[in-house]
Amino acid sequence: MGAVPFIGRRRELAALTKRLDRVSRTGAGSAMAIRGRRQVGKSRLVQEFCDRAGVPYLFFTATKGMSPVEAVAEFCAELRESCLPADPEQVVRVTSGSWPEAFRVLHAAIPPTPSVVVVDEMPWLTEQDDLFDGALQTAWDRLLSVKPVLLLLLGSDLHLMERLTA
Ligand SMILES: Nc1ncnc2c1ncn2[C@@H]1O[C@H](COP(=O)(O)OP(=O)(O)O)[C@@H](O)[C@H]1O
Ligand SMILES: [Mg+2]
Repeated sequence: MGAVPFIGRRRELAALTKRLDRVSRTGAGSAMAIRGRRQVGKSRLVQEFCDRAGVPYLFFTATKGMSPVEAVAEFCAELRESCLPADPEQVVRVTSGSWPEAFRVLHAAIPPTPSVVVVDEMPWLTEQDDLFDGALQTAWDRLLSVKPVLLLLLGSDLHLMERLTA
């Protein structure tokens, strides 16, 4: 990554910037799905946006075949190492494989100022855990959307994405 300089995508970057501006202005969260075939440049676009946005962010990429226990632990580890939490020491490592618990940890870590949370390769999480979709939906509705956070979900078509971003 980064060997080839970032090219183009001005419209897409502008659309993301506009979303984040709205989050900043309103103080309310916004969720957005970015779908598309493999290799079209979803991850690179969003990484570039995060680099330029100038706000704290978490970029979590799911791994194919990871069990829920592994995925949740990895999510918490990435969260702890990211620039998102004001106090990384407070990010507890969830070992139960519970996404509701992981989202509570995320909620506690999201600062009161604008931020970005990215879940890349989200379909791998849904594939491994039937509860993931519902857990994210509930966490978004009850906890996360109240914060000034831009949530970006990357992957192929998912019903959840349509519901969250409707
Ligand atoms: N705008 C861009 N400028 C330069 N290289 C890019 C751009 N978009 C994607 N790439 C490169 O193309 C490859 C595929 O992009 P990637 O973001 O991984 O696709 P996706 O996430 O959609 O599968 C990567 O090597 C990436 O660095
Ligand atoms: Mg990708």
